[in-house]
Amino acid sequence: MTDSQNELSPEHQVEAARKAFEQEFERFARFTLVDLEAAVAEERALAELRTRHLGKKSALAATKKLIGRVAPDQRAAFGQLVQATEAALVQSLDQAEQSLKDYIQNERTARESIDVTLPGRRPRFGHRHPITLLREQLEDVFVALGYAIEDDREIETDFYNFSALNIPENHPARGWQDTFYTTDGFALRSQTSTVQIHAMQRRGVPVRMIAPGRVFRRDTPDPTHNPMFFQVEGLCVDRGITMAHLKGTVAEFLRRMFGPDTVTRFRPSYFPFTEPSAEFDFSCFKCKGSGCRICKNSGWIELGGSGMVHPNVLRIVGVDPQQYSGFAFGFGIDRMTALMYELDDIRLLFENDVRFLEKFE
Ligand code: DAH
Repeated sequence: MTDSQNELSPEHQVEAARKAFEQEFERFARFTLVDLEAAVAEERALAELRTRHLGKKSALAATKKLIGRVAPDQRAAFGQLVQATEAALVQSLDQAEQSLKDYIQNERTARESIDVTLPGRRPRFGHRHPITLLREQLEDVFVALGYAIEDDREIETDFYNFSALNIPENHPARGWQDTFYTTDGFALRSQTSTVQIHAMQRRGVPVRMIAPGRVFRRDTPDPTHNPMFFQVEGLCVDRGITMAHLKGTVAEFLRRMFGPDTVTRFRPSYFPFTEPSAEFDFSCFKCKGSGCRICKNSGWIELGGSGMVHPNVLRIVGVDPQQYSGFAFGFGIDRMTALMYELDDIRLLFENDVRFLEKFE
């Protein structure tokens, strides 16, 4: 055999297989791991290396078939050489694999770990709107005076918004200029006075109630007007109710809201649903009557309308005006809010700008 001279002896073939492995393995023996992704790639490369050098088709596996070419007295030693070489390869590979596995495990744990000492992300709690704050404050005062709180619909029939309140057929408030109408003829209530009627129909008399709520008017928005705003209505009907009860109640309410020195005054006025009617003012809570920016130097702040419930209003809900009498009043909650917080523009209350609303927390 000519090429038999060139052919390596079985022992040398084992040695060659070992060397070939070591050459390739070298970089695994001294690698420095940079990150998880690199380590995972190395793990795969190492597994391939193992197959290549220890698998069925590897050079080392081939040497096992050379046993017949080894002199009989050398066979045992040859067998041991093959086994020892195989064991050495396995050991190197296992060691490298283990350190890769450890590294990967540590990296994964580090990535998944959470710092339990970090402050949590709290949900931001909202808070009440300044109009709501004031509404609740005035509700508390009236509840303490024995009044019930009534709530009712914002879309009304002509009857509740006008007729029942003794607003004549030709009254300008009925016109399209002042009231919003739905396409099928309902009115967005233009005043909370509508609740007077609902409350008397529901509860009968005697009755004492206030009704805070939203009202709508066709107004062009400006610093003191908004087409949607809030009013509170008050109604007290019983036997023997007089204007003195009206004045006493409104004055007491304003003292509880603005302090015990608050003075109230009534000016004659006109409302279709009251007779006599009066508008009421109170002494400025800021300057105590000497004159300032809030009261426009008058010392007084105009607040709302009031009067003795018109007999026609009582009659329409089946109450006999010979036996019962009552007073009613109404004023704007947002106007009062704007006054108390010294807002120059009432529209701030309806823009829902959180930077503004946050100031009331
Ligand atoms: N509803 C009136 C308005 O919107 C306010 C008002 C005036 C209510 C007199 C009343 C009242 O109950 O008696 O301007």
